[in-house]
Order: sequence, then C-alpha cells, then structure tokens
Amino acid sequence: MTEISKAEILRQKDFISRISDINSKKEHKPLAFVETYGCAQNFNDSEKICGMLSDMGFGFCENKEIADLIIYNTCAVRENAEMRVYGNIGAIKNIKRKREGVLLGVCGCMVQQEKIAENVKKRYPYVDMIFGTHALYRFPEILANAMEKNRVFDIENSEGAICEDISCKREAPPLAKVPIMYGCNNFCTYCIVPYVRGRERSRKVEAVLSEVRQVASEGYKEVMLLGQNVNSYGNDFKDGTSFAYLLGEVCKIDGIERVRFMTSHPKDISDELIDVMAREEKICNQLHLPVQCGSSRILEKMNRRYTKEQYLEIVRKVREKMPDIVLTTDIIVGFPGETNEDFEETIDVLKKVRYDTIFSFIYSKRGGTPAAVMEDCLTEEEKHKNFDRLLEVQNEISKEKNDEYLGRIEKVLVEGASKTNPEYMSGRTDGGKIVNFKGNTDMVGKIIDVKITKTQTWSLGGEVL
Ligand code: SAH
Ligand code: SF4
Ligand code: F3S
Repeated sequence: MTEISKAEILRQKDFISRISDINSKKEHKPLAFVETYGCAQNFNDSEKICGMLSDMGFGFCENKEIADLIIYNTCAVRENAEMRVYGNIGAIKNIKRKREGVLLGVCGCMVQQEKIAENVKKRYPYVDMIFGTHALYRFPEILANAMEKNRVFDIENSEGAICEDISCKREAPPLAKVPIMYGCNNFCTYCIVPYVRGRERSRKVEAVLSEVRQVASEGYKEVMLLGQNVNSYGNDFKDGTSFAYLLGEVCKIDGIERVRFMTSHPKDISDELIDVMAREEKICNQLHLPVQCGSSRILEKMNRRYTKEQYLEIVRKVREKMPDIVLTTDIIVGFPGETNEDFEETIDVLKKVRYDTIFSFIYSKRGGTPAAVMEDCLTEEEKHKNFDRLLEVQNEISKEKNDEYLGRIEKVLVEGASKTNPEYMSGRTDGGKIVNFKGNTDMVGKIIDVKITKTQTWSLGGEVL
C-alpha cells in the first residue's frame, strides 16, 4: 500500500489556503452545490469534497440556481445512473449562460472511464473540471486551475494511493461513514467498480481507529464501516490482520454505540467474523449479504465464486449464531444467459432465506466488462416480468417479517424528524429497520425504547415508552 507523500499533501494544502484567501476577499461567501450518485463510498467522497470546499471558504446551497460552483459526483454502476447525470449536465448550460463565472465539475466513477470522460469533454464544452476517483485528493489544485480559467481534465489512475489527510464534512450526528478500504479485486463479470475504483487497498488499522475516535468525540453514535468487500480488509497487509480484528478494535471505542458495515462478499465470510458479530454487543444485528442470483450456473458466469448451496450454508451458519439477524441482499435480474429456470432458483433462494429487504436491479450492460459480450436469451419484456414477480414475492415476505415486530420493544437510534410530518421522528432499530413515531427533536442522537404498534412493507411505526 502506498500513501500520498507528505510533500504532495502540503502542496494541496497550499492550494487550499490560496483559494481560501481569494474567497475571504469576496463580498459574499461563494456557494457550492454538490450532488452525489451511487453508493456510500461515493457519498463519503463527496463529504471529503465538501470538507475541502469548506476549508477553502465555500458555503453550501441546495439550489443550483444560486450556486457559484456545481459539482456532480457520478456513479457508473448502471446505465440509468449515467443517463441522469447527462441530463443534469445538459441543464447547467442555461445557468452558465445566465450567470457568468459559475464553475461546473463532473467527477467520480463515471468519468474515471476514459471513453466517457472524453465524451463529456467533447459534448459539454462548458464543463470546467472533469476528474476521476483517483484525483479526489488533488481537488484543491484542480479547482485552483479552473478558477484561473483553465479547463481541467484529470483522470489519471494513481492506482493504490491512499490519502489520509483530507477534511471531511459529514451530516450532523448521529451517523458517520468511515471507509476502511478502497477498490475491489473481485471482478464480478457484470460490474464496473473494479475498473473505476482500482485494486483493493486497506487503510491502516490505526488510521481507521483514529477517525472513529474523532467522530465519537464529535458526538456520532453509529459508524458505518465502508468497503466494496469489507471481508477482505487487511489481506493486502499480509500479516494476518482481518476485518474481524478491526471490528473488535472499533467496538472498544467509547462513545460509539453501534457499528455497521457494508458490503460483505459471501465468498469471504469467515467463522471468525460470524463469531465477533455474535459476541460484540455494539455490532448491529444486521448483515447485507449480496447473493446476486440463485442459480449456480449463472453465479459461475458472474464469477461470484460460490454456489447456491454454499450461500445457503453461510446463511444457516449466520442464523445459528444470530437467530433473529436482519438479512438483506442485492439481486440482479436478467444477467446474460439467465433463463426462466435460472430465475426460479433466485425465487427459491428468496423463499428459503426470507430476507427482510432486497435491493434488486435489472442487469445493465457495462462496456468493458466480460458480461457485456456474453450472449443473452431473455427479452427485455421477459426480464421485466421476472423483476416484477421478484418484487411481488419479496414484498409479501418483507411484510410478514415486519409483522413479527408487532408489540415488540425495540431500541431505536433517533436520526431526525420525518420528512413528511415534523411531529414525527425517524430512527432505526439495531437491525436497521426504519421506525417512525411521535416525538421531538430533543430525541435526535439518543437510543430510546419504542413499542412497535404498526407494520408496513418498508418501515415500522411505534410509540415511545
Ligand atoms: N461491492 C458491493 C456492491 C457493488 S455495487 C457488492 O459486491 O455487493 C451494488 C450492487 O449493484 C451490486 O451488488 C449488484 O447487485 C448491482 N450491480 C452491479 N453491477 C450491475 C450491473 N451491471 N447491472 C445491474 N446491477 C448491477
Ligand atoms: Fe462489483 Fe463484485 Fe466488486 Fe462488488 S465484489 S464491487 S459486485 S466486482
Ligand atoms: Fe457507483 Fe462507483 Fe459506487 S460505480 S456504486 S459510485 S463505487
């Protein structure tokens, strides 16, 4: 693992102070609008962009019409995510025409793909900054160049580098995201992530722990440890450091009351991890274990490196140690070559595992991945029909699973007021289920007992005890 050199970090800090000087002389604090697509990892990257912007004297706004700087942090995992970004960039043309000096940046996974980045550069000449995921720590320099009216195109792949010294502007407590590793080595054949995020590299144990201590001191109660495959944390150190060990250490930190993590690849789930989850009070009673498909034949084509039977065995082991664990998964419908018989195997997994929730996607072809050239057999219409059936089967299971909570008393970490009714608060159970209940904002950040009085497919309702 390489780290960005101290000299380079100082060089970026210099750009930060230069921009901060310029901004402090302006009549009004310039405002930034940052919009993020994709996964928690990308949202954490945006927190870092906002941290750097804040250090450079920017304020923030939710309305791009009044922004001086607009940033889109993009996702490439499916086509629809990319289409939305194109639509958004197109719409900025008018804003830039109306208000001189507005700067526009497009960053993240989508533009880490060379062809797409070139295309954005050509099609939208008014985009001032195009920079990929590897350039995140160079953002101050990129912005300084753009402010001097130089168009920036930085998609260089500084593979393997980790930068530890970037400010992070998080949402208010109680939830904090903390990355423990970057990149992915798995190359599932449908997936673009390894191409846009580079190879797996773990942050040092001490770097993770010191960030968790930091957020604990700022009043955060729950940490979400992030990685594309947290189960392989530490493999690159080659000294036996494991994710299970890291979890144990994180749990020792005072002030942190809940620990979650995402995502776990089933092939790398160890008995040691299951044991530490069962043992440590602070580790939430929840596991997101993406199965992707129930057919072993398709799983092999996906390069997932487990069979249906092996997956079900992992679930059995997990439930043996943690009988009431909340299980969730990701499923792709319509992978190339998937037949209706293969799809029935996925339905079978749903019925056998009985997940609390699933996140399901119709397969989206990603240029440059092995699956993009695999032969397909079902029509789009058939895939949609299967997709709808998947949801129907799951919705019934989700509702039944939630019905089991009726009358139970759950410990809920209160996150904030409900979006639809300010008299209602919203929070999560230890298992990660959303609970809405009548309350007040004094409760935010506290763990309180709530009796569950109402159940729906997606959430629970309750009364504070
Ligand atoms: N590293 C995580 C998450 C990766 S992306 C993991 O391995 O679970 C999140 C989800 O997007 C994946 O689990 C998968 O279900 C879905 N996904 C990835 N590529 C896709 C594609 N080309 N089409 C449709 N869904 C996709
Ligand atoms: Fe993509 Fe597979 Fe890596 Fe997850 S594990 S990011 S699905 S390649
Ligand atoms: Fe999307 Fe990049 Fe995350 S492709 S899912 S934002 S790693």
